[in-house]
Amino acid sequence: MPGFSTTAIHAGQEPEARTGAVTVPIFQTTTYAQHTLGEHVKYDYGRTINPTREAWETNIAALENGKFGFAFASGMSAIAAALSIIKSSDHVIAGSDMYGGTYRYFSKILSNFGIEVSYVNMSPMGPISPMGHMGSAIKKNTRLIYAETPTNPMMNLTDLAELGKLARERGILTVVDNTFMSPYLQNPLDFGIDAVVHSTTKYIGGHSDVIGGALVTSSSEIAEQTKFYQNAYGAIPSPFDCWLMLRSVKTLALRMRAHCENAQIIAERLASDDRVKKVYYPGLTSHPQHELAIKQMKGFGGMVSVELGSLERAKKFTSALRYFTLGESLGGVESLVCHPLTMTHASVPEERRLELGITEGLVRLSVGIEDIGDLLEDVERGLSVI
Ligand SMILES: Cc1ncc(COP(=O)(O)O)c(C=O)c1O
Repeated sequence: MPGFSTTAIHAGQEPEARTGAVTVPIFQTTTYAQHTLGEHVKYDYGRTINPTREAWETNIAALENGKFGFAFASGMSAIAAALSIIKSSDHVIAGSDMYGGTYRYFSKILSNFGIEVSYVNMSPMGPISPMGHMGSAIKKNTRLIYAETPTNPMMNLTDLAELGKLARERGILTVVDNTFMSPYLQNPLDFGIDAVVHSTTKYIGGHSDVIGGALVTSSSEIAEQTKFYQNAYGAIPSPFDCWLMLRSVKTLALRMRAHCENAQIIAERLASDDRVKKVYYPGLTSHPQHELAIKQMKGFGGMVSVELGSLERAKKFTSALRYFTLGESLGGVESLVCHPLTMTHASVPEERRLELGITEGLVRLSVGIEDIGDLLEDVERGLSVI
C-alpha cells in the first residue's frame, strides 16, 4: 500500500491519455457527444458524471481507505446525502455536540420528514463503558447513528471502535463527520464506521477558497443510494472546484503536520496562563480523552477552543489579534478565530449551547501554518488586553 502523500498525489490521477498532461484536466462541460442513438454511454450528462469529479472521488475514497467516494457542493450537502439513506418513521441518534449547521439540518429539516432524532452525549467520561449508555437511546426503529469527532467546538471525542462495534451488533448504520481531523489524521472506516463525511471546505481544500463536501464508504448499499441521491438531488461541485480539491489534497499531509505542531504550542501556551479559564485541545494531557485521542488519531489537529470567562474578554482578545482573522470556517493555511456562540453555533438553542459549554467567553482558534513565533506573539497581544 502506498503512503498517504503518494496516494494523495497519484490516486485517480494518471497522466491524461490524449496529451500526457500530468494534472487532471478541468472537464468544463455539461454534456458529451453520443455517437449512436440508444447506445449505452458512460458519460452522458454533467450532473451525473464528470471526469474531473471522478478523479477527485477516486482520490478521496483512497485517502479514507474506502471503496467509493462522492463529491458534493458543500459539507452540508454531503451530510444530507449521508442522511438520505433513512426514511420517514426511522429513528436517528446524533451526538448532542456537533456543528451548528448540522444540528440545524437535523432539527429543522429532518423533522419535517417524520424522522425522529435523539441527541446523545457521545463522549461520556469516567469508568463506565464509553458506549454503555447508548443502549438506552437505541429503539426498534433506530437506523443510523451520526457522530462528529472531535466535535465542533468543544473538542469532545467519540470512541470510534466502540461506536462501530455497538452499531454493528445492533444492525445500525454509522456516519462520522471527520472534518476536524482530515483523512491524514483519522480514518473512521478503519474502526468499523460505515460512512465518513467531510466538509472539504476546511482542511482538505485548505486555502479558504473553495466550498465542498465528500462522502466515503465501502458499503455497496450506501454507495448505490449516495450515487442515486447525488444525481437526483444535484448538489454537485463544479469541475473547477474538484480540480481545486485535487490540487490542494496533494499537500494535505504537510499542512496537517504544521497545523498540529503549531496548535500544540499555542494550546500549551494558553493552558499555562492564569488569565485563561480553560483550553480544549485533545493534545493536552489535561484533556479528559487524551488517551483515546492517542488511540484513534494520528495527531491532535489544528483546532483549539479557549474559555476566556466573559463576552467582554472574548471581544478584547479577538480584537487584539493581528494574524488570527475573526471569521467563520476553519482549516485554511491562515489562522482564524471565531466566537461560536454568535457565529458558527448561533442556530443552536441557548439552553443546549450552555449545556455543551458554548458560553459567551468561548473562542475557537483555527491555528494556521504561519510561523509559530508570529502566532505566539499574536496570542500574547490578545492575552495582554484581557
Ligand atoms: C464539522 C463540520 N461539518 C460540516 C460543516 C459544513 O460544511 P460546509 O460549510 O462545507 O457546508 C462544517 C462547517 O463549518 C463543520 O465545521
